[in-house]
Amino acid sequence: MTISSNPTAPLVVVVGSTGKQGGSVIQALAESDKEYRIRGLTRDVSKPQAQRIATQGVEMMNVNLTADNADAARAAFKGANIAFIVTNFWEHLDKAREVAEGKMLVATAKAADVELLVWSGLESAAEVSQGKYGHVDHFDSKAEITTYARKSGVQLLIVQAGAYASNHLHSPQKEADGTYTLGLPVGPNTILPIIDAVHDYGLFVREGIECPKFGAGTEVLASAEDISVAEMLVQLSMITGKKVVYKRISDEEFMAATRAPHHVALELLEMWKYFEEFGYFGDKDTSSSRQHLNRTPHTWADFVREADWSSILV
Ligand SMILES: NC(=O)c1ccc[n+]([C@@H]2O[C@H](COP(=O)([O-])OP(=O)(O)OC[C@H]3O[C@@H](n4cnc5c(N)ncnc54)[C@H](OP(=O)(O)O)[C@@H]3O)[C@@H](O)[C@H]2O)c1
Repeated sequence: MTISSNPTAPLVVVVGSTGKQGGSVIQALAESDKEYRIRGLTRDVSKPQAQRIATQGVEMMNVNLTADNADAARAAFKGANIAFIVTNFWEHLDKAREVAEGKMLVATAKAADVELLVWSGLESAAEVSQGKYGHVDHFDSKAEITTYARKSGVQLLIVQAGAYASNHLHSPQKEADGTYTLGLPVGPNTILPIIDAVHDYGLFVREGIECPKFGAGTEVLASAEDISVAEMLVQLSMITGKKVVYKRISDEEFMAATRAPHHVALELLEMWKYFEEFGYFGDKDTSSSRQHLNRTPHTWADFVREADWSSILV
């Protein structure tokens, strides 16, 4: 682990440092043979996760990155050469809030005159599907922030995160006969670009920063492999020894099973339909984003082998 305190090393400010993506970015830059100073942002430097990161030599800083707190954000970005930013839709489920916070972070990075802004964007499901799926807010909001960032003229590198392998840790349902099912409202051949986000998202950010093929004006699609949901379950069954089978369920069954408010259930339903018909990254090819990584990312099978399924597949 080499996080530098050398004042000539570039300063990387990491939003979401205690989370999956930001934490992974810190890990990957610490593993680099290049020197970086790192400032990790959190709302609570005293929490154990923040304290753990601080022991690695990361300067942890308290800041609440809401849209109305731009002055505090400016102070947190002061002196940054590189900024990594991510917004967290799932904490509030509010598209307008996510867009406002994302724009504030972009404007702050631009005002700090960073050499590179790394942004965790996503596609617009509404645009890619030409209006067919207009409720996938957490994709559309990130695309809106991307558009704003491009127009701002900031030196922009987009690193889109694929579908987290960990999303599926709690999905299998136990059936009366002792087998398990995973129910989704799409066909079994629906493809997901899978990433073990904690282990590997930062690996792709490091590639985007350090590899001359990427950098400002480019995009990295962070995923280890494109795999169908049916194949994921075949591998899950083989590795764990538990029978987990795919079950296509109706839209109504899926929405009820989410146990979420109607608008969130609809968002998740349309997200799956969008993946099935148009692809998670639209028709963009993921393979070129894997060609200059510093190590091999975890496949779905690797993730399954390392994950603790004991409370799920009991
Ligand atoms: N699940 C998937 O498959 C997937 C795929 C692609 C993209 N995404 C996107 O990933 C995003 C979430 O990223 P993640 O997985 O890294 O989240 P996470 O693990 O839940 O971490 C969220 C981070 O954001 C920080 N944060 C949240 N609100 C903040 C605020 N007001 N001020 C300062 N810091 C704040 C938290 O810091 P503190 O709590 O320490 O303050 C924490 O470090 C979501 O927008 C989601 O749409 C998810």
